[in-house]
Amino acid sequence: MQIVRESMALREAIRAMRGNGDRLALVPTMGALHNGHLALVADARRRADRVAASIFVNPTQFNDPADLERYPRNEAEDAAKLEEAGCDLVWMPSVRDIYPQGFATMVSVAGISDRWEGEHRPGHFDGVATVVSKLLIAAMPDVAIFGEKDFQQLAVIRRMTMDLGLPVEIIGHETVRDADGLAMSSRNALLSAEERGRAPKLFEALSMASRRIAAGENVGTALVEAKAAIAQAGFGPVDYLAYLDSETLEPLEGRRPGGRLIAAAFLGKVRLIDNVRVD
Ligand code: PAJ
Repeated sequence: MQIVRESMALREAIRAMRGNGDRLALVPTMGALHNGHLALVADARRRADRVAASIFVNPTQFNDPADLERYPRNEAEDAAKLEEAGCDLVWMPSVRDIYPQGFATMVSVAGISDRWEGEHRPGHFDGVATVVSKLLIAAMPDVAIFGEKDFQQLAVIRRMTMDLGLPVEIIGHETVRDADGLAMSSRNALLSAEERGRAPKLFEALSMASRRIAAGENVGTALVEAKAAIAQAGFGPVDYLAYLDSETLEPLEGRRPGGRLIAAAFLGKVRLIDNVRVD
């Protein structure tokens, strides 16, 4: 597995990889890799001849400097995991490489970025859309894989790719969970043992609400009871818990095909997000 840092080196490596017409997949990450990330790499392997991953802790998408500061970083371990998962190339750009002196161009996806995560993390999706468009332009993959775990992020990236006309297929991969249902996340490592024990309640509450809405129960009641179950499990503020359309992310009042439940809530100092499909 090749490790490159500078954009020039990336360009050369990609040119060499694609020389014989090979299909290239890209898996963008911020590192601190877990099995959720590695499942995206495995999916990429099935969809393309060559797989590249990027590791870049993107400062522009952190609305809280303390969150950026304590974001876990572990290059050597990450590289070993990627190699094991069958990755051909890892790109680890520096902040200066992505954001040159005087950087002034941001990508902003209106509407779909505004609510939910966007409302609670101002500027977050501008940072995501900007860095992902830069990563896609630099690596020019045929396909890029993102997790459904970050459901709104995936919707923002799909919209951005379409609007900018980037010639890349965006694939959403289902959320990978621990055995007890907790969605894998680099932030789970920040939970205390006691909090970790209660963390799966978020998924349980969403799953219960999903079954109830699918069974035709009142959406408002299902949401209120899911919120109560999360509070009961000791979660702090619930930033949002909503039933919405998977594409537009507009809230739905009654059951509709393509509906999704999404939520964000604090457990101690750690903010967890999750979402489930409603059949
Ligand atoms: P990061 O949080 O490192 O996640 C990288 C990719 O892994 C994202 O597409 C995310 O949705 C996916 N992922 C994380 N946990 C997952 C899980 N449990 N199951 C399935 N997929 C999972 O998301 C980002 O980085 C950044 O915002 C990025 C897109 C790299 C832009 O900076």
